Amino acid sequence: MSFDVTAVRAHFPALAAGAAHFDGPGGSQVPDVVAAAVAATMTAPMANRGQVTQAERNADAVVLAARAAVADLVDGDAGGVVFGRSATSLTYDFARVLSAGWGPGDEVVVTRLEHDANIRPWVQAAAARGATVRWAEFDPATGELDPSTVGALLSERTRLVAVTGASNLIGTRPDLPAITALAHAAGAWTWVDGVHLIAHAMVDVAALGADFFACSPYKFLGPHCGCVIASPALLETLHPDKLLPSTDAVPERFEVGTLPYELLAGTTAAIDFLASLGGGGPRRAGLETAMDAIEAHEDRLRERIEGGVRNLPGVTVWSRAERRTPTLLLTFADQDAADAYRFLAERGVNAPAGSFYALEASRWLGLGDTGGLRIGLAPYNNDADVDRLLAGLAEFSRTRRSA
Ligand SMILES: Cc1ncc(COP(=O)(O)O)c(C=O)c1O
Repeated sequence: MSFDVTAVRAHFPALAAGAAHFDGPGGSQVPDVVAAAVAATMTAPMANRGQVTQAERNADAVVLAARAAVADLVDGDAGGVVFGRSATSLTYDFARVLSAGWGPGDEVVVTRLEHDANIRPWVQAAAARGATVRWAEFDPATGELDPSTVGALLSERTRLVAVTGASNLIGTRPDLPAITALAHAAGAWTWVDGVHLIAHAMVDVAALGADFFACSPYKFLGPHCGCVIASPALLETLHPDKLLPSTDAVPERFEVGTLPYELLAGTTAAIDFLASLGGGGPRRAGLETAMDAIEAHEDRLRERIEGGVRNLPGVTVWSRAERRTPTLLLTFADQDAADAYRFLAERGVNAPAGSFYALEASRWLGLGDTGGLRIGLAPYNNDADVDRLLAGLAEFSRTRRSA
């Protein structure tokens, strides 16, 4: 299927401000239909979920629709979709529950590739229980995380393996089915951080072997909230702290307090928007077609960028894994990435510099806490954006030689 980026861009009011957005991995721009769904929910009669008044039924319908939409996005069970404030806060919440039975001698495996949201909650939960953290290192030269590196750390005491679906720093997409199969063979649960992956690839939680899959709608054209998908049967075995009067039903018992109905409506609208790019039909089928087209579109632009920066003197590209998202991390000989960030921003090209909370990965690459310049692609990027980026980078590189 061909991808009509001009038609896609027409849905993004923010693009009218004129910037070329390569900052999608930090949070994507939002289509008009998502904003409209948020506004419609805020202006419709709404109350707490219930069945007596129309306002209560509206709130209930919004929640159920959002669970169904997220389930379609990941091919999960709507009854196992948990919403929360962010992937980080949900990971902390679940780390507390999942670690409740851990003690000295128990082990949790985390990888060095992760965003800190999939490290610190586990490290801190392990410390609180006297459990041990095992670190799976990726190869800094290739950016690859070899499943056997994870496998070598597993034992019958491994309780959980926390692994990313894709690195938000260098784009590496680890071989999740291989890693999760090893974890399951050792009797461990798998917690997959899908926040970066889901913006760029079709996800099937069962095929990935994710017992828990965390993601954030604001990375895939939706509003700022988070979700975790697990099987309802697995959620039934877990008992988080909760208020006495709140329901003990699954998945609600994991959703402390009142849900942000307007953000859930926006999440549904974002998923529907993505599915619509696939040309209609059942939502999951539309998503499959759309994500394939988005992946092909983003990969083509990524290759253009890679080809362009290859010719620039003094530029190192750290995104090298065989399978990776269209997310490039660059550093510059004798020039600060932070200066490139500002230089590009002055030219209307938004590509931030930093380590983007993937602190362990940045340090492991030898980039300290500073990281590099991150160029991330989203469905609304076009060739003109890439032209502007490459022109800006070439100009920045010339400031080095003339300095
Ligand atoms: C890979 C990855 N994991 C987790 C997070 C944290 O997500 P949230 O902001 O929803 O807590 C991010 C945010 O940038 C991310 O890129």
